[in-house]
Amino acid sequence: MAKEIRAAKLNTEQFVSEKVREIRKIVGKGIAINALSGGVDSSVVTALGHRALGDRLKTFFIDNGLMRQNEPKQVKIIFQSLGIPIELFDARRDFFKALKGITDPEEKREAITQTFYKKVFGELVVRSGAKHLLQGTILTDIDETVAGIKRQHNVFEQLGIDPQKAFGYKIIEPLIQLRKDGVRKVGAALGLPASIFDRIPFPGPALAARVLGEVTPDRVKIVRKATAIVEKELSGMKVFQYLAILHEDRVTGMRDGKRDFGLQIEIRCWDSVDARSAEVTRLPYETLEKIAGKIVKEVPGVVSVTYNITPKPPSTIEAV
Ligand code: XMP
Repeated sequence: MAKEIRAAKLNTEQFVSEKVREIRKIVGKGIAINALSGGVDSSVVTALGHRALGDRLKTFFIDNGLMRQNEPKQVKIIFQSLGIPIELFDARRDFFKALKGITDPEEKREAITQTFYKKVFGELVVRSGAKHLLQGTILTDIDETVAGIKRQHNVFEQLGIDPQKAFGYKIIEPLIQLRKDGVRKVGAALGLPASIFDRIPFPGPALAARVLGEVTPDRVKIVRKATAIVEKELSGMKVFQYLAILHEDRVTGMRDGKRDFGLQIEIRCWDSVDARSAEVTRLPYETLEKIAGKIVKEVPGVVSVTYNITPKPPSTIEAV
């Protein structure tokens, strides 16, 4: 198990130069590839990998159809302005096909893992000639996977899976000793803008982690709209993370004087340092009311908005 480096003890300069050296040594004269989702960890690993390998790192933004509003375009623009080229890869059909009919949370995560690493990356690796995949796994991902809480989509070795055998390429994980607070420090040291390294976390399985029941393009569209509203209204808050979840069950509501058996959205907002435990943020009631009002007005079919008031544990940050 990787030895933890606590954020308070982290010497970012030393960390960056050590990791740059390690990545160069492992990749040699070859090519590495990685996927950027725009989340904090994958952004930091992209910047680190680019510092180590320059244009021998091929970075893809894989559009899995599960990203937030405008995410693919925005992420591409930010990284281009940093001189890091990103290639967009449209894999929406593959992911929705793999998710069709699945309602169990762990099966959903497994479908995403297989589609991402075997199908999409399998093909990209062969096409690019890369032997290594660089990825931003952090210590919290491993803890939760090993403890059997959630199968984080990016953890293999600790589960006895050899990526070389399973997928045909090696995985390099330079952030494995850090937690989110340490990753943010490294992001700042690498010159990433605060809009990237100080972003709220976003999970690897993306919006699929926030859809209970089957993940279909239509249901993702609903949670995406609700997410955009929650993110806009809470963006100035000094909190760890906020999100919207689409529930599987419908509830009886009324609209225009008629019965409307509609959808439920749950809002969550968390205070946390490293995501291992989290407290519910005591949001002002007016803020909650404003968000609920906007969601029922702007997101078609929603008749109920609730706020989660249970800390982690026993809750977890995401719903799936
Ligand atoms: P949970 O829901 O387990 O989330 O309390 C803890 C933190 O991790 C994020 N998260 C993930 N990140 N791959 C990731 O890279 C995943 O599969 C994954 N699942 C959850 C979550 O957003 C929270 O910040």
